[in-house]
Amino acid sequence: MLFLRKEVFTQVGRFAAVNANASTKFCSLRFAHKPSFTADSYPSLQRDSRYATLNQADVDFLKSILKTEGGSIVNGLDQSTDPSDLDAFNTDWTHKYRGKTEVAIKPKTTQQVSQILKYCNSRKLAVVPQGGNTGLVGGSIPVFDEIVLNLGLMNKIHSFDELSGVLSLDAGVILENADSFLAEKDHMFPLDLGAKGSCQVGGCAATAAGGLRLLRYGSLRGTILGIEAVLPDGTILDNMVTLRKDNTGLDLKQLFIGSEGYLGIITRLTVICPRRPRSTNVAFFGVSSYENVLKAFSESKAYLTEILSAFELMDNTSQRLVDAHSSTQRPLEDEHPFYVLLETQGSNKEHDEQKLNALIEHLIEDEVITDGVIAQDESQLRVLWERREGITECLAKAGSGVYKYDVSLPLKVLYDLVNDTKQRLTDLKLLGESSDHPVIDVVGFGHMGDGNLHLNIAVRKYDKRVEKALQPWVFEWVASHRGSISAEHGLGLLKKPYIGYSKSPEMISLMKILKNVFDPNGIMLPYKYV
Ligand code: FAD
Ligand code: MLT
Ligand code: ZN
Repeated sequence: MLFLRKEVFTQVGRFAAVNANASTKFCSLRFAHKPSFTADSYPSLQRDSRYATLNQADVDFLKSILKTEGGSIVNGLDQSTDPSDLDAFNTDWTHKYRGKTEVAIKPKTTQQVSQILKYCNSRKLAVVPQGGNTGLVGGSIPVFDEIVLNLGLMNKIHSFDELSGVLSLDAGVILENADSFLAEKDHMFPLDLGAKGSCQVGGCAATAAGGLRLLRYGSLRGTILGIEAVLPDGTILDNMVTLRKDNTGLDLKQLFIGSEGYLGIITRLTVICPRRPRSTNVAFFGVSSYENVLKAFSESKAYLTEILSAFELMDNTSQRLVDAHSSTQRPLEDEHPFYVLLETQGSNKEHDEQKLNALIEHLIEDEVITDGVIAQDESQLRVLWERREGITECLAKAGSGVYKYDVSLPLKVLYDLVNDTKQRLTDLKLLGESSDHPVIDVVGFGHMGDGNLHLNIAVRKYDKRVEKALQPWVFEWVASHRGSISAEHGLGLLKKPYIGYSKSPEMISLMKILKNVFDPNGIMLPYKYV
């Protein structure tokens, strides 16, 4: 078996150089069409009459808040504003949802956020916090005329302590910028994900984003040490702890991590950041069956122990999409039902390579993997990651829409969901090659190391027949296998009606009580979450 395919990689490296120069920022339009208004596609959603309607006096007041310390506002009530200036604030990344906000405000300081929320609360104006707007569940854009409060101008890095590794920064810092800053200090941000060029650290905290290396560096629920947050009544909660341990009272910051803007706005964070690894290896395997993927995972943990930093699953359909919609070359010539991207990160190159080689020898000998390559340099490493990270963008290019499900499942049954979904959509005559069928492809990939599957259904266009076939069927399937209907993307608008599949009535009612304590007027994130 040809394992180290250096000759293939000589060519792949050429593309990597092109990729390396390209910005990771997303283009603003993934799909050619402009989405329908959410309010029209989901007529069961009605504007809540509790909320006031924004008027010119409100805008004048909001503008006055920005006067001293800066900030910006896009005011759609003003006739001279080009309505398309609000498009980016009203449209989600998947182009499935579209809001009708008339005002998007970008404050520069926590004090301004506090004054804005205090005013909105007193006037009962609904608010949607917005970070990089890369969320995949429709959380970051309004449904009706909620005010968008975008954190993009709160983007300062305040301090970094090289001894403890504690970073203190504004919520609006782009994840990639935080990591580049840390790279200069030989450290890294403990989270990495495909949207790093656009998503903000505050948005990541608000969604408790998991990403590509949770397996090794843990969840933001553990690495975020402190938070500054503004409550809907304007109260500033300063919990900017820089200590690893702090067992005094309830850990209130945990309520904000993963709360998607439902309780208040995260304005600052402290995060504990690990040293940058001295040695990184990336291998890409072809695997003949899901059973063998499971074996490969189990053996990888046994052989690599502390240096295993990612174990990512990709099915063949996902890789065909990457072939079709990106310029990255296939790392393996032959097609395989499954692929695995495995990464190690450690401090001793020789030691790490020895461990990885021992694993690979063992996997080949036991015929667990059938083919594979190991990146020989940084550019090859980036190409292999591109085969995994690029799936989301390639899915978006396959048709005019994607139904996205992000679930946690016991590993043994994880991929069964993809097979059962394909079967269901075929039986219902929704999946097929001809344009009569709305579904183009059913794809499975994800963070296998965390038991997190991304089930994606690419469609020619968003179609209610497909949505009805999938919801609540997918959530029922997940609940019946004791999984979670949201592993990492959150609830947003998409999963709000389905939280009951993963949380008990008692837990949901406690969440509502807490909401009422934090936000009695319900101005934050209406129509979404719980
Ligand atoms: P937004 O999308 O702007 O907002 C998300 C939610 O948080 C909204 O409800 C919003 O109201 C709220 N919010 C935003 N900022 C704040 C704040 N400062 N305070 C309070 N509430 C706030 N997610 C993963 O978990 N793992 C992945 O591997 C991953 N990969 C991705 C790859 C691609 C290509 C894309 C497009 C998305 C991916 N995502 C992933 C989803 C998304 O990037 C994450 O959820 C990310 O954390 C969202 O950050 P954001 O700044 O874009 O937040
Ligand atoms: C990923 O792991 O790539 C993301 O969570 C994005 C997605 O699900 O498409
Ligand atoms: Zn993911």
